[in-house]
Amino acid sequence: MNPTKPAARDRLRIAIQKSGRLAEPARSLLASCGLGWRESRDRLFCYGETLPVDLLLVRDDDIPALIADGVCDLGVVGRNVLSEADGVRVASGRRPVFREWRALGFGGCRLALAVPEGWDWKGPQQLAGKRIATSYPALLSQWLAAQGVDAEVVLLSGSVEIAPRLGQADAVCDLVSSGATLAANQLVPVATLFESEAVLAGPVEGFDGVRAELAELLCRRLDGALRVRHSKLLLFQASRDRLPSLLPLLPDAEAPTVMRIDGVDQLALQALCHGAVTWQRLEDLKSAGARGLMVLPVEGMLA
Ligand code: PRP
Ligand code: ZN
Repeated sequence: MNPTKPAARDRLRIAIQKSGRLAEPARSLLASCGLGWRESRDRLFCYGETLPVDLLLVRDDDIPALIADGVCDLGVVGRNVLSEADGVRVASGRRPVFREWRALGFGGCRLALAVPEGWDWKGPQQLAGKRIATSYPALLSQWLAAQGVDAEVVLLSGSVEIAPRLGQADAVCDLVSSGATLAANQLVPVATLFESEAVLAGPVEGFDGVRAELAELLCRRLDGALRVRHSKLLLFQASRDRLPSLLPLLPDAEAPTVMRIDGVDQLALQALCHGAVTWQRLEDLKSAGARGLMVLPVEGMLA
C-alpha cells in the first residue's frame, strides 16, 4: 500500500445523472449489480457501502469532463454526450479520451435534424447557408461536412426547439426520444444524425490496481445483469410424450433443464426465456400439455 496515495483512489467513483431520463434506470442497473449506497444530505455524493464504489450525482453533460479530469472513473451517460465531448476535443486538435465500455440498453434516442412544418424538405442541400441551432456542434458539424453542406451552426445550451420561432435559427438539431417536444414546437424530423442510448463511459485506457479490479468486477456483473434484463425463468411440468410439442414453443430458451419426477414419464422443466413470456404464450404451452406454469423474474446470471 502506498501511503502517499489519497484514499479516494482506492475506491471507484461513478458519475450518473442526478435527475432526468437516465437517472432512475442508471441507479437500478447499478443496484442490480450489487451496489448499495448511503445517501448524503446534499445527495451529490453517495458513499458505496456494499463495495468501494461511490456515486456522484451530476448533470449528464458534465460527465465527460469529470471523467477526462479524473474526478470520476466511469459514468453512465448518453452515447450522444460522450461522442460530442470527444468530437469537440478532436476538432480542437486534442486526442479522444473516452471509450464506451458497455452499451446499457436503455435511454434510447436519436440526434435528429428538424425543420419547421412548412418546409418542403428535399434533402441536406437545402440547409446550405441556413442557421441550425444545436447543443451538439461537433456531431452536427461532422454530419454537415459529410453531406458537403455549408451551414451556420448556432450553439445553444438549452431550449433549442424554440430557436426557429424566436428567429435565432432556421432549423434545429436536437435529441428526439418520443418526438413530443419537436411536435409541440411545430418541427418535423427529417434526418437522423446519430443513434444513442445510455452507455457506461470510461477512459480509453483502463485503471491500475484496486480500481482496475473494481471496474472489472462491475463490468462482469453488468454483463450478467444486462444478459437477463428482459429474461424470465419459466417452470412447469409435463409428461414426457408432450416434449416434442412443447420445446418448439421455447425457441428463445437456453437449453431447458429437464428433471424426472414421479417415475419416468413425468417431467419438471425449467427454461430461461430471453424473449417475451406473454399470457398468449403461457396459454399455448398449457394447450401443448404444460402444467403448473410459473414465470419468475431473473435478477442476474453468472455463466
Ligand atoms: C432532450 C431534448 C428535448 C427532449 C426531447 O432533452 O433536448 O428537449 O429531450 O424528448 P422527446 O422527443 O421525448 O420530447 P433531455 O431530456 O435529454 O435533457 P437535456 O438535453 O437537457 O439533458
Ligand atoms: Zn443534458
